[in-house]
Amino acid sequence: MNRFEGKVALITGTASGIGRATAQRLAAEGAKVVCTDVQLDGLEETVRDITSQGRAAVSQVCDVSDKDAVCAAVGRTIDQYGKLDVRCNVAGILETSHTHEVYSRSMGTAPFG
Ligand SMILES: NC(=O)c1ccc[n+]([C@@H]2O[C@H](COP(=O)([O-])OP(=O)(O)OC[C@H]3O[C@@H](n4cnc5c(N)ncnc54)[C@H](O)[C@@H]3O)[C@@H](O)[C@H]2O)c1
Repeated sequence: MNRFEGKVALITGTASGIGRATAQRLAAEGAKVVCTDVQLDGLEETVRDITSQGRAAVSQVCDVSDKDAVCAAVGRTIDQYGKLDVRCNVAGILETSHTHEVYSRSMGTAPFG
């Protein structure tokens, strides 16, 4: 199926995991994919994997915690392709710890005084 033929998709967090799989799938479905991440090695590996199958992918280093960097990534995509149809915000950090530990780290204080 080519459900994304002619579409331009920008995906964050594409150096690994869900972001990489999303980019691969959208490309397989016909989209031109713009892969972004902070990890250059993984990012380039994703793009190589997609382009080696004759599909369209480019990379952009982009830290999603930096608003200007995100706006620049969108701007470069529109400069290159003339539009942006799909945006997948996947970048993130999976933290597994106890709730009170997450609370303490983010609030700087223990939850129960
Ligand atoms: N894998 C799961 O079971 C699961 C479950 C629930 C939620 N999630 C969430 O989904 C997201 C992706 O999960 P994943 O398993 O693919 O993780 P992953 O660690 O494999 O991939 C996350 C990607 O995000 C990138 N990233 C991190 N901070 C970034 C930043 N500031 N700017 C740009 N890129 C950044 C990393 O470099 C990495 O390539 C995470 O937010 C995670 O918390 C994952």
